Amino acid sequence: MARDTSLFSGRPSELIGRQVAGYRIEREIGRGGMAVVYRAKDLRLERTVALKLLAPELARNDTFRRRFTHESRAAAAIDHPHIVPVFEAGETDGVLYIAMRYVSGSDLRHLLDSQGPLTPATALRIAAQIASALDAAHENGLVHRDVKPGNILVARGTDSDHPEHAYLTDFGLTKKSLSLTGFTTVGQFVGTLDYVAPEQISGKPVDARCDVYGFACVVYECLTGHPPFRRDEDMALLWAHQYDDPPPLTEARPDLAPPVDAVFADALAKSPDDRHDSCLAFVTDLRAAVTGGPAGGRPATAVDHKVVPAPEAPAKNPPKPPPRWAEPVFRQ
Ligand SMILES: Nc1ncnc2c1ncn2[C@@H]1O[C@H](COP(=O)(O)OP(=O)(O)O)[C@@H](O)[C@H]1O
Ligand SMILES: [Mg+2]
Repeated sequence: MARDTSLFSGRPSELIGRQVAGYRIEREIGRGGMAVVYRAKDLRLERTVALKLLAPELARNDTFRRRFTHESRAAAAIDHPHIVPVFEAGETDGVLYIAMRYVSGSDLRHLLDSQGPLTPATALRIAAQIASALDAAHENGLVHRDVKPGNILVARGTDSDHPEHAYLTDFGLTKKSLSLTGFTTVGQFVGTLDYVAPEQISGKPVDARCDVYGFACVVYECLTGHPPFRRDEDMALLWAHQYDDPPPLTEARPDLAPPVDAVFADALAKSPDDRHDSCLAFVTDLRAAVTGGPAGGRPATAVDHKVVPAPEAPAKNPPKPPPRWAEPVFRQ
């Protein structure tokens, strides 16, 4: 048993320099509630990878193990520019691990914490990339279930037209649907409840539309700096996802046009049937609401044109504030 947990003692320094399943651990990158992520060197190919070691209790949970194997394979099979490629997933010394591309950059959680809300243009660029990743996953029969800022990695983009390249990661690694219905008795860490869809909470079967909900919560936070629902207690938060209306986004961002609120009302609908069919459909509607263009085939009305300011005004307009997305903190 001591050996089982030796890879996950919580003391990262013990693993630095050690070899785990053919990877030499170089340094800790970050940790979530159920995993530690290290930068490591794949000794066979001499390439740098991100090596994720999952908490040992997950390896002992049969349902999780089955889904881990199934969904790691499914995620590895998707070749998409905005999904972190998985190189290998396996088990060593009772610990499940995943080796994936090391993304040099930051995660969206860190960006929002350090820089506050994004400009609409930046939020829309990142949202469009992650939406295409989610829709591709859905077309491959995969539901992410844990869309949150920590699972969106942002690297430097290729040029000034593409200042950032966003990646989605961690398919099928959530325990939420396993534990939400009984997490108080099981007493396991559930992770953040800020992005969890009503049907996940009530234990109903989930499909792609639960990701539309989680994704819309993330985009809401990108624009306002906070998720749609904020409550002191977990139970109150779960209740809010199920029964409360999200506060109109324009309360926090009065510079955005009112049609934006209707787009979020749809994407965050309690019933999956009332949401957008895809993440890209949501982003398309949002872009139209932000820029005043036509949405969903609906011709732009005079009202749209009158009230909607361009997200980033041309130079002749009054001075715009310096972009928040000036120079994100990129890891070396
Ligand atoms: N492929 C990767 N490349 C670089 N950093 C990563 C990679 N995967 C995860 N990370 C970093 O490790 C952190 C911890 O990841 P994780 O254990 O999944 O926790 P969470 O998703 O809850 O933040 C992430 O927030 C991210 O900053
Ligand atoms: Mg993660």
